[in-house]
Amino acid sequence: MKRLCLIAATTLIAMTLNAGAADGSAIYTKECTKCHGADGKGDTPMGKKLKCKDLSVEAAKLGEAKIATAIKEGLKEGDKVRMKAFKDLSDADVQALAKYVLTLKK
Ligand code: HEC
Repeated sequence: MKRLCLIAATTLIAMTLNAGAADGSAIYTKECTKCHGADGKGDTPMGKKLKCKDLSVEAAKLGEAKIATAIKEGLKEGDKVRMKAFKDLSDADVQALAKYVLTLKK
């Protein structure tokens, strides 16, 4: 029983540390820049083609919750997927990302 508690406690600590380590900036660079650009303006070949809006302006209007939803569920226009859902990201990752997107503001 003692041992089980110890394992549970260790897992909990590891999970907390992991959540704290979610790095919005790194994930953004890896997953988002090819469309939205490093500065969020969408000034990339892909971003222009897809007509990405300027996140450095729009993010603040959307707010953290809507940004998080867009990342988790993606964006559709009718039946057409405009941005895919990033299902592999943990909630902590999504939250860190949403916060990071808000810092792109000029
Ligand atoms: C394949 C290109 C592509 C990638 C990769 C991509 N996006 Fe998008 N994103 C779009 C398009 C297209 C739109 C919809 C057009 C628009 O309104 O800007 C969009 C819209 C958004 C919006 C606005 C949501 C809303 O409700 O209007 C946010 C916030 C966003 N993306 C964040 C991200 C983040 C964070 C990542 C990385 C995890 C990411 N995007 C990766 C193409 C992409």
